[in-house]
Amino acid sequence: MNKNILIVLGSDHAGYELKLAVLKFLEEMGYDVTDVGAHSSEESVDYPVFAKSVAEKVASGKFKFGMLFCGTGIGMSIAANKVKRIRAAACSDPVTASFARRHNDANILCMGGRITTPTIGIAIAEAFLKAEFEAGRHARRVEEIFKIEHPE
Ligand code: RB5
Repeated sequence: MNKNILIVLGSDHAGYELKLAVLKFLEEMGYDVTDVGAHSSEESVDYPVFAKSVAEKVASGKFKFGMLFCGTGIGMSIAANKVKRIRAAACSDPVTASFARRHNDANILCMGGRITTPTIGIAIAEAFLKAEFEAGRHARRVEEIFKIEHPE
């Protein structure tokens, strides 16, 4: 796993605790991580605010990957995918997280704090970071997604 990459994390209140567990793991692994908030599980906040912040930072190219955490991972993925150049995948197991990188070149991983335990969440994050985009026929398909996003 290449540790010389920047990763940006965000959550709402429902994903806060899972985000902290993954954040701690990433820091212990030596990754350079930035947390855009939320900073508590107590106050109810709106997940699209954090999805937009993380997605724009990844789309800008400054951060290679983003990780977003809400109750299910679904709201975060829907919102993040509205930002051009974002391919956000909501995953609840390490296998789909790995394929999200290998086949879909996903650049944001979304998880649900009400679905996924910290132990599994860490395994999902690890699988996502370990996997490499396989390009080839998958690059053609990702290019087709890009064309949907940028119609002529
Ligand atoms: C918040 O209650 C919850 O709706 C949110 O965290 C997320 O799961 C939405 O997809």
